[in-house]
Amino acid sequence: MTTIKPEVISDPRVLSERLAALRREGKTIGLVPTMGALHEGHLSLVRQSKSLCDVTVVSIFVNPTQFAPGEDYEKYPRVLDADLARLDSVGGVEFVLAPAPKDMYPEGFDAHVHIGGVTRRLEGEFRPTHFDGVAVVVLKLFNISGADIAFFGQKDYQQAAVIQKMVRDLNLSVKIRVCPIVREEDGLAMSSRNKYLSPGERKEAPVLKRALDLARKMIADGATDPAQVKHEMRTLIGSAPSAAIDYISIADPDTLDELDRIDGKAVVLLAVKIGATRLIDNMIVP
Ligand code: PAJ
Repeated sequence: MTTIKPEVISDPRVLSERLAALRREGKTIGLVPTMGALHEGHLSLVRQSKSLCDVTVVSIFVNPTQFAPGEDYEKYPRVLDADLARLDSVGGVEFVLAPAPKDMYPEGFDAHVHIGGVTRRLEGEFRPTHFDGVAVVVLKLFNISGADIAFFGQKDYQQAAVIQKMVRDLNLSVKIRVCPIVREEDGLAMSSRNKYLSPGERKEAPVLKRALDLARKMIADGATDPAQVKHEMRTLIGSAPSAAIDYISIADPDTLDELDRIDGKAVVLLAVKIGATRLIDNMIVP
């Protein structure tokens, strides 16, 4: 098997031209947007893209517009060489877009993309400017790449819902694939932010997944009252000394509206700070 080394491009216009030529040859383009510090979760998206598209593009860009002042933009891990080595180990990625902030947001950039509805609650409440930043950069990446299919992780459930709504509301032609959450052996959802956890906090962090498992079991055993399920989840998470809950939600999987009764499909979502590190996770039930 020959492995293709990706061509690393920083200028979005150069990538656009290269991809336009490939599209004219009838090739389909798969896009995997990331902020780097790649782990198996990201690589699962890359593998999906390779299996469904002729050409795979991975973008690696720590997007400043989706971080609020005081969040972790400065300390977010930037490890391009290690990321390229990881992509090499998968093989078959044709292009990596690794722009500098000025390549994506040149002097004078002044555009906004605001998606309503699903952005309001949960992450939107705790990070009010976050999804506008995600929407603007992802829309740019769709336009730069002209991708046929773009791949996102269920790990960021609300983000995937926002992107799907943007595609519907703005009649974008790209197809969205949402891929399953990849976890560590102890259940912790893989995340670039797991690197911030101290060894002690890392031991406590799987409590998020245990709380989701507890919810799934209670609902499978017939629980229909979201308040009761959330109460038990809070008690379990409270047993971890470094944990502080931002939210626990049991919501409609499409609208993300809070449910007052569980009588069909639901998504359980949570955001918990473990020490200074904010982690999110979710599970679709049943
Ligand atoms: P980032 O956090 O790097 O994640 C890139 C993609 O990988 C997202 O679609 C995310 O949901 C997915 N992902 C992360 N951890 C995963 C896991 N454990 N299992 C499966 N998929 C996982 O999300 C972003 O970057 C940014 O907001 C971005 C969309 C790139 C816009 O800047």
